Formats: sequence, C-alpha cells, structure tokens
Amino acid sequence: MILGIETSCDETAAALITEDGEIRANVVSSQADLHARYGGVVPEVASRRHLELISPVIREALSEAGATLDDVDRVAVTRGPGLIGALLVGVAAAKAIAWSRRLPLVPVDHLDGHVASLYLKPGPVEPPFLCLLASGGHTMLILVRAHGEQELLGTTLDDAAGEAFDKGARLLGLGYPGGRELDRLAREGDPGAYDFPVARVPGLDFSFSGLKTALLYAVRALAPDELAARKADLAASYQHAIVRALVGRVREAAEQSGQERIAVVGGVAANSELRASLSGASLAPLSLCTDNAAMIASAARYTGALVYPAYLGLDAFASR
Ligand code: KG4
Ligand code: ZN
Repeated sequence: MILGIETSCDETAAALITEDGEIRANVVSSQADLHARYGGVVPEVASRRHLELISPVIREALSEAGATLDDVDRVAVTRGPGLIGALLVGVAAAKAIAWSRRLPLVPVDHLDGHVASLYLKPGPVEPPFLCLLASGGHTMLILVRAHGEQELLGTTLDDAAGEAFDKGARLLGLGYPGGRELDRLAREGDPGAYDFPVARVPGLDFSFSGLKTALLYAVRALAPDELAARKADLAASYQHAIVRALVGRVREAAEQSGQERIAVVGGVAANSELRASLSGASLAPLSLCTDNAAMIASAARYTGALVYPAYLGLDAFASR
C-alpha cells in the first residue's frame, strides 16, 4: 500500500491506497473551525495544529485500513505548493516514517494530486482529458495527454475561483470557508437578479478580482434590512457569474484543443451549480474534491520515488 500525507493548507490528511488505486482509508481532519474567527487561514496556527494532528491522523488511517506500517511499501507526501510551515510538518513526518523503515519516498506536487483524484477507484478516469482545476489557491485549465504528461492552457491572473467564493461569502457575512455556505444560500436565490460582470481576459486565462468589487458595491448600496432580504439573490447571481466564467473557458479550451473529454477537480468542483452546468464532464467525487491525502497517494503512482536515504535532504516549496 501507499501511505499518502497532505498538510499544504488547513487540512491534516493521511490515506492508504493500493497500487491499483483502491482507497483503503482516507482521513481528513479540517482545521476550518480553528481559523474561522480570523476569517481565513493563519499560517503559523495551521503549522502548529498540523504538528498536533499529524501522528493521530496517520494512526487513524492505518487503523481504518486495518493495516500497520508493515503494510506500507512507499510514502507519498505533498511537497508544495502551499503554506511552507504547514508543508514542512507533512514532509518531516513522511521522511521519518520512510527513513525508519527504509522505504522509498515520493514527493508530490499538490496540483498533480488534485488531477490524480480522478485516477482512483471505483470510477477512475483515464487521460487524455481537459482538466479544470479550481480550488482555493488555483484556477487552471490543464490538457492532460497521459499520466504525468500535461500542458497548462490557462490560469487565473488574480484571485482563484475558490478565493472568489470565499471573499464573496465574507462580504455576505457567511463565515469561513465560505464556498460551501454560498453554494447553499444560492439555491434559495435568483441567479438573474443581479448582472455581475465576468472579466474577459485574452487567451484561456481567468480573472475574478473585478467580480468581488462588483459584489462589494452591490452590498454597499443596500440598507441592512434590504441586504438581509436580497442576500440569497446576491449569492445566486455572484455564484452564477463565477460558474459562467469557468464553464465558458472550459468550452473555449475544448474547442481550441480539440479535446472534448472534460474533467473537473479541486474544492470548487464540489459546487452544485458548476456540477450541474458540466453534467457531461467527469467530476471528482465530492469527498475527493477538497484537499485529501488519497489524491496525493494516487499521484505517487505516476511520480518517481526517491530511494532511501536520498530524501532526507528533501525540501518543501511554497510556490511553483
Ligand atoms: O482544493 P481545496 O480544498 O483547497 C485548495 O487547494 O485550495 O479548495 C478549497 C476551496 C475553498 O475556496 C472553498 O470555499 C471552495 O474550495 N469550495 C467551494 C465549495 N466547496 C468548497 N466553492 C464553491 N462551492 C462549493 N460547494
Ligand atoms: Zn488543494
């Protein structure tokens, strides 16, 4: 089995999968509650919590899989991009386990991990496909030709789609992390109530920062009691603008690349309107959209391993 470890942001996660992509355990401990009162992730607080949680979470994954460290053939860990202090906790834990058992270690790029969430059982998706990766930190269109062979077609020039959801949710007083709350509230509103603009940037890139400003002005124009009455409409219209931008770009990319098979991964892939708008696409299962370690272990199947003890000098990286 492959032991996967993920600590790039505010989820402490460990998973065990088999070589052919069957998930035996997938444990995710979210720190969202801890960061909620600050309205976002506080990096140093995240690192310290990872340190407390990493061993119990790995132990829980082993017990859920009915396994011990004797059953682990290699250790996979997120090396970056992410919060550097948070990443270091996972990398140190992975090194310690691998080194103590003389196992190989596989450093995994978090974004490759999101794409590899599609390769897991029970319904694995095989390349080639056009992948929309939309998370709290990234928004990318990737042409995946084969495992580990991919081309970046477009990316966000400013905010990520998930960031736009979170910032919009904050303006509407929905708390943190706001994507899921905004999604829920939007179901009660009219997506046509407000016409929020979607920035048109050249090529296949995205831009979401103007949208949040448009929402800010719309919110400011309302008295508090009006805001309460229009909140669901604002949420629905705002979400509709983000989804329209994402879907529009996906369609253009499909046309330009000639790749009609579409897949969607990352936290924003959990959005109900996006899922409904791309119903023909392969959508990562809900449990694998937001950060988890099963996807990291999955990516390790297609990534070169470092043999014992070469990985002891391995470093994490914050951005690509
Ligand atoms: O992939 P992820 O867990 O972490 C990163 O790698 O960034 O994505 C988290 C992002 C957050 O911005 C969160 O608000 C968003 O995914 N998200 C959603 C939904 N569920 C999570 N956004 C819109 N609708 C949702 N249902
Ligand atoms: Zn992620």
